This record gives sequence, C-alpha cells and structure tokens, in this order.
Amino acid sequence: MTTAPSVEEQLAIVDAELNRALMGTTKFNEKRIPVVRGTFARLLNNVTLLTSDDTDLPILEIGSDGALASAKVLHKLTGLEVVASNLVVGGLADKVGDYPIRIHQNDIGALNFPDNSFSMLYGRAVLEHISDMDDFLAECDRVLEPGGVLYLDGGPLFHSPRGHHMAVRGPSGTHYGFGKMPDLVPNWCQLDSNEDEVFAHLTETKGVDADDARVIAHYIFNSPEQNRMSASDVIAAFERSAFNNLSYETMQMKKFVPPPHLVEQYGEFDLITNGLAYFVTTGPKSAEPVATSVATPAATPRETTSAPARPLWRRIAGRIKRSILR
Ligand SMILES: C[S@@+](CC[C@H](N)C(=O)[O-])C[C@H]1O[C@@H](n2cnc3c(N)ncnc32)[C@H](O)[C@@H]1O
Repeated sequence: MTTAPSVEEQLAIVDAELNRALMGTTKFNEKRIPVVRGTFARLLNNVTLLTSDDTDLPILEIGSDGALASAKVLHKLTGLEVVASNLVVGGLADKVGDYPIRIHQNDIGALNFPDNSFSMLYGRAVLEHISDMDDFLAECDRVLEPGGVLYLDGGPLFHSPRGHHMAVRGPSGTHYGFGKMPDLVPNWCQLDSNEDEVFAHLTETKGVDADDARVIAHYIFNSPEQNRMSASDVIAAFERSAFNNLSYETMQMKKFVPPPHLVEQYGEFDLITNGLAYFVTTGPKSAEPVATSVATPAATPRETTSAPARPLWRRIAGRIKRSILR
C-alpha cells in the first residue's frame, strides 16, 4: 500500500518546481518564490490534493501567473493536467514546455466550461478581481466535479490599509505599485478621501507628475479591475453560495491601527483584514465554517494539527484538516 506524501515532502516538490520555473528569470519572479511557496504551504496544510489516481479531470487555474509557476507546481503535486487561464494570455504558451498545461483565455466571471469538468479550481491573488462573487461561486460549483476542491485567495481587500490596491502605470511610463511604494498614498485613503484629495496628496506632498497622479487617483476609485469588497463581503458571499465545508484563513495587518471614525463606520475586522484564503470542497454542508487568522505576511507554513475529518461522503479520505494558529 502506498502512503500519501507528507506536507513536507510535497513542499519539497513545490520548492523544486518554483525554482525551476522562476529562478534566473527576473528579480521580480525570484522574489515571488517564498510568497508562492507560502500559498502552497497554506493549501497543503488544509487540503489533501486529488491525484491522478483519484480523478482524471484536469485542474483549472484562474488568473494564472506569467511564468505558469503555480500551474507547473499543481501538475507536479497531482499528476493532473492543468488548464491555465487568464484574461491576458499573451506569452503564456511559450512557458508551457513539456508540461501537460493548456492555455485558455477567459474572464474570471465567465467560466465557459461544461458542468463537472474539473477536479480542482485554483486561483491565487484573484479574490479582489472577481466582480460578481455570487455568480462566480455558482459557476465554480457548476464546473467542479462532486468532491472537487476550490482554493481561492486574494487581497488586499478594499477596506484594509492598502485596499486602494494601487497598481497602475502612469502616462510617464512609471509603474506605481502598493508593494513597491507602500507609502505613496495614505493607508485607507480609499475609504477616507476622494479622487481629488488623493490627486492633491500625490502632486503636492509626494511630488508625483500631475498626469500620473490623475491616473493613479482615478484607478483607486474607479478601476473595474477591483471589486472593492471587504473581507465580510467576501465571507458572506461564500456563506450564501452552494458550497459546503467552507474553511478559510484571514491575513491581517495588525501593525496598522485604523482611525476611530473608520472603526465606527466599518468595524475593525474589515479594516485590518487584508487577505483571505478559502479552502472549499463540494459535498454536504458542514456545521459551521472554520475560520483561522494569521498576521501578514504569511509566507511560511503554519503548524497544523493532524485531525483530518474522514467523512463518508468523501471519495478521498482525510482531505480536510483543521488548522491552528501559532
Ligand atoms: C494579482 S495577479 C495574480 C497572478 C497569479 N495568480 C499569481 O499568483 O501571481 C491577478 C491576475 O488576475 C488576472 N485577472 C484580473 N482580472 C481578471 C479577469 N476579469 N479575468 C481573468 N483574469 C483576470 C490578471 O491578469 C492577473 O494575472
């Protein structure tokens, strides 16, 4: 009888694969290795992945990264084919190599696949880009086979300190990103000010070129790329969905203290919760959603209890683990 590989053994596969896909490509990509590893650590600590012995249906990745790093890891971990999708797919085909990865151009909101086509749906750093969460989750449920796995994470969520999600190129060619320039616009400016005030702040206090400042301010308040949902909005959408066995982690920016007037208006939870990761399996409804919380950044694996639930309805026993926090 073969025993399932441990999380550590699977993380060794993740490391090897991420190094192969990203090391020596660009500095930006190399810096992402521990971050993407953190995503897989979180995933593997919470769900036992399907393998090609359990299903022959492919995995669908939405919002695939430009190096297909996650897609390659998913294939190596499961042996399954991966359909890597994005709104923008230019250049992805060149990254496939000899992996069983199919490239598919699609909008996250329009999963144009037949019912029960996938064993798993995986989306990393995408939650904030899904415009109609209710429709999307219904579509995920439809395209997943019974017993399928859904992993979705994303952030910053709109009510969090960096929820402005500044990530835009100005007419000057400069790229303004909240990761690279965390203090260019004030935390919570998306809740606490308007487009004109952000424009004034950028030009008068930060010396940003006026044309660029206009684009940044417009992007923060109007870009259709962000759904402007709070953590509570996303959680409520999952709870409304047909999905069963919801379990999720929150990532929180506890080092920033929100101003009291915002706390009064929005509540502290949404103001500091900048990310969510959902682990969902199809099947009968569990009693209560299981929520855990970690401080950002969460790039390292957390300690987990090994208390796998073994419900009869699972084809794959022991797929769900409860996690505890350090
Ligand atoms: C923050 S990036 C994350 C990329 C990748 N998953 C990763 O881990 O690095 C979000 C991705 O979602 C894609 N995206 C945004 N809106 C989308 C939409 N409506 N439909 C499909 N893809 C979308 C973007 O092109 C981008 O690649």
